[in-house]
Amino acid sequence: MKKYFAGLDLGGTFVKGGIVDEQGRILVKDKIPTGKERPFTEIAADMAQLVKDLASRAGLQEGQLAGVGIGSPGLIDAEHGVIVYSNNIRWDNVPLCSAVEERLGLSVCITNDANAAALGEHFCGAGKQFGSMVFITLGTGVGGGIILDGKLFEGNRSAGAEIGHMVIERGGWECTCGRRGCFETYASATGLIRRTREAMQKHADSAMWRIAGGLDAVDGKTAFDGMRAGDAAAKQVVDEYIDYLAEGIINLVNIFRPEAIVLGGGVCAEGETLLAPLREKIVPHLYGGAEYAPVAIVTAGLGNDAGLCGAARLAMTRK
Ligand code: BGC
Repeated sequence: MKKYFAGLDLGGTFVKGGIVDEQGRILVKDKIPTGKERPFTEIAADMAQLVKDLASRAGLQEGQLAGVGIGSPGLIDAEHGVIVYSNNIRWDNVPLCSAVEERLGLSVCITNDANAAALGEHFCGAGKQFGSMVFITLGTGVGGGIILDGKLFEGNRSAGAEIGHMVIERGGWECTCGRRGCFETYASATGLIRRTREAMQKHADSAMWRIAGGLDAVDGKTAFDGMRAGDAAAKQVVDEYIDYLAEGIINLVNIFRPEAIVLGGGVCAEGETLLAPLREKIVPHLYGGAEYAPVAIVTAGLGNDAGLCGAARLAMTRK
């Protein structure tokens, strides 16, 4: 009997889930709102229900679902299935795995969401061809999955690789982690949305008002669409966003000098509109130049599915 695995990517805005086979092919996938302010038990119940729905939509028979993996933001105690600390979904010591397990009657494993996405990309996405890469998720927060010599580098007790909390502007914007000027506050989709709203409030005549329809409806695409419509304020938002993103990536490249930086998250749908200016801003600042040890700057081959695929992969490879 062929085996399948469920991958769940828990985000600050949505929970994405999918049923994945052992080759990394996604049979079905879906997403539901996280409702992150709710008690974790409710979120766990929704996650379990999502797995049940997906398994039935994929037509799986009893016993074919061999495991479930979760990618979650924050500091994860994988051994006990506990989220020790998370800043964007405000959690301390949340036993998420057991809460999902109870409702599914299946074993559930967990890792950090960005680590899961890096595993997914390395398994069957853009990262397949690179022995070393830094995967950067640009979502509600900014996460990092670091693969060195083909292996995930997680730091002591898997508490490292928190690249979103590297300060790139001392005394800058306040971060949900309690510090100021973190990479995440500027380079996340949340940071882009904040910058877009601020620009709209300053420029009552900006095309971004028409594009979004109001401040509440602004998303990570609004400024890019405004720029395409020839709006100067929108172009400035995009330029500044890419400046900050570049700043953080230059630091990461100079520390790890990976073969590739792989970017994930909704904003990556912009493709070369994002990547071309990003490369221009990064390459001149690489230590010793870019020729000796070149770095590819690419978007996730699995797009927004990297996290769920990697979470399923974790369940597949679990000993
Ligand atoms: C958290 C990380 C997480 C990232 C993406 C950050 O704020 O600290 O653990 O990977 O957001 O969700």
